[in-house]
Amino acid sequence: MSTKTLIKTCLFTNGRVLTGTTFSVRAAISQPLRLSGYQQRCCVATKAEVNEIIKKYKEGDFNKLPNPDKLLHFRKTDQTDTSETEKPHEVPMGTHALPHPIWSEEELHNVQITHKPPEGFVDKSAYYCVQTMRKAFDIVSGFSTGERNEFKWLKRIIFLETVAGVPGMVAAMTRHLHSLRRMQRDYGWIHTLLEEAENERMHLMTALQLKQPSRLFKWSVIGAQGTFVGLFSISYLISPKFCHRFVGYLEEEAVKTYTKCLQDIENCSMQHWKTQPSPQVAIDYWKLSEDATMKDVILAIRADEAHHRLVNHTLASMKPTDYNPYEPGK
Ligand SMILES: [Fe+2]
Ligand SMILES: [Fe+2]
Repeated sequence: MSTKTLIKTCLFTNGRVLTGTTFSVRAAISQPLRLSGYQQRCCVATKAEVNEIIKKYKEGDFNKLPNPDKLLHFRKTDQTDTSETEKPHEVPMGTHALPHPIWSEEELHNVQITHKPPEGFVDKSAYYCVQTMRKAFDIVSGFSTGERNEFKWLKRIIFLETVAGVPGMVAAMTRHLHSLRRMQRDYGWIHTLLEEAENERMHLMTALQLKQPSRLFKWSVIGAQGTFVGLFSISYLISPKFCHRFVGYLEEEAVKTYTKCLQDIENCSMQHWKTQPSPQVAIDYWKLSEDATMKDVILAIRADEAHHRLVNHTLASMKPTDYNPYEPGK
């Protein structure tokens, strides 16, 4: 390899670093470089460009910087010695999902609307909190008035799932930090809570395949998340029982909501979801058949919500030091 090429490569791979240091330019010229085969073959600048840059540096003019496209360390892809140009492999969404239940046909169709009557002050507080929130949200979002069409359904599902993914993550983090801080075991709750958070997020990812929210919608999600994360975190530190009961009642409402959605699919304005193909992410995540429809997706989501309902009512009825009865993915 010629000395000329060595200098060229050094300057254009380290042009910004050398800015303002004529010493470094000299050092670069005088010191031998170890370059890869690719660098040795790649002529990254012309002789005139190199000479001009050196001249400018020596004159103290550092305004003319090399074109970043010619800098090896700014290249976006790792160009190796092989002549083949491999396209980056697109990994399907949900490939690295945590274990989660895969529902049978019977389980999907046997979900019932249930209600656990509140007992005592904590349960009643959680219940009326959820009822107030639900009624307020129905009015503000316009869901309770006019015809429920696809636009309304997707808006509701997307917004609610951005909120539904919060409690599991906050509860898992709180218990995780508690375990670290007090140097005590967790009793196996964390994984179940993380699975719930991810499951809710996958509901969101699925709905987003059908609708991209507006900028205003995204701002409202940011506002809601900021408020809800703060409030739920403080509540969990004060009373985990209240929080799990609250989520239990929230999930009761989620089951009602998705049951109503299925009724709309069966009889009303959403009948096209009976035949509309499911997004691939849902097929992969819930292991649905390749010809699954949006109705199958809603059935799977509703079964998930019924599971969250059971898990959270169970956790709310346990002491924080009781062992979690739910195994990973169950
Ligand atoms: Fe959900
Ligand atoms: Fe849920």
